[in-house]
Amino acid sequence: YNLTAHNTFAMNVKCSEFMEYTKADDIPFIISSIRKGVEKFHIGAGSNLLFTGDFPGIILHSAIKGIEILSETAEEVIVRAGAGETMDELILWACRRGLWGIENLSGIPGEVGASAVQNVGAYGAEAADSIVAVHAYDEVEEEFVTFTTDECHYAYRDSVFKQADFKKRYIIHAVDYRLSPIPAPDLSYPALKSHFEGFDESTLSPSDIRKAIIEIRNSKLPDPVKVPSAGSFFKNPVISEELFAEIRAKEAPAEPPHYKVSDGYKIPAAWLIDRCGWKGYRDGNIGVWHLQPLVIVNPDRQASPEEVISLETRIIDSVKQRFGIKLTPEVEHI
Ligand code: EPU
Repeated sequence: YNLTAHNTFAMNVKCSEFMEYTKADDIPFIISSIRKGVEKFHIGAGSNLLFTGDFPGIILHSAIKGIEILSETAEEVIVRAGAGETMDELILWACRRGLWGIENLSGIPGEVGASAVQNVGAYGAEAADSIVAVHAYDEVEEEFVTFTTDECHYAYRDSVFKQADFKKRYIIHAVDYRLSPIPAPDLSYPALKSHFEGFDESTLSPSDIRKAIIEIRNSKLPDPVKVPSAGSFFKNPVISEELFAEIRAKEAPAEPPHYKVSDGYKIPAAWLIDRCGWKGYRDGNIGVWHLQPLVIVNPDRQASPEEVISLETRIIDSVKQRFGIKLTPEVEHI
């Protein structure tokens, strides 16, 4: 079974079998039907992964759709979305109803289930800020379970579901979000703030923010439909105060962008890669996006996993050599 259409990087790879289901109730049967010892891997929209070759096993995909309101008060609306629902459809749905909470994630690729695993984030917001519960099937105990947000251990692009043992054990089938009709525009992200310079914040709707976010995204990030990629390829690293001081002195007069975090400074990987001269780089079938060097692109849909990995390695090496920072991929390698 060819997987090109199931990964936004458009890697032309195969798996032995592809299984898709539309109801949570089908999960126990599907899991029990898979022979012991057969490799399996569950994907979402495939927008944050790199198949490093053919997958010798079964790829599972949830096509569980649906958005429903579970409860509603003047302060909050609890909404449940199926794991196979497109994240951006959910965001559009919420914005149309004037519900706040996830508008800053507008345009983000991917599906609800995977976004709860990866804790997707953009423009000052993260999925974890709005998630109140994650519903999953436990393959070990063979029962349906619910995780509270605390139990998900959310962090930057991370959750308990990314741990190897959890990954093997739980299949997410629905996610509950807390949204609110009470206006709460989050314009903390600099590009968003300047976009609304001079606007009366109290007049903004979630749809206004959505529109602005999509505009900002389009100005920096490649359109996943036209230019295959997996979004940010690397995570933004956190470095010690000492290393930061060293880099700052060495790179002067250029000032490294930075955000204070509890254990040092977070530096945009985009800046590090940019300083190493990779922006707009092109070699054969593979390239680095000319407007955001954190994104590796496959412009002609011809790149092989080996070409991606070779470029990834070269970028990591050059950043390591110049800054002493070892970048880690954000994209999951399978
Ligand atoms: N920068 C450069 N050169 C560039 C582009 C950016 O030096 O060509 C520097 C600038 O200093 C800029 C900084 O990098 O201020 C940050 O850039 P940007 O605002 O574009 O965000 P990012 O940190 O590179 C993160 C997420 C994106 C998300 C944006 C917006 C990660 C790994 N990436 O990128 O997420 O859309 O913020 O919130 O955290 C994704 O995860 O796939 C993704 C695209």
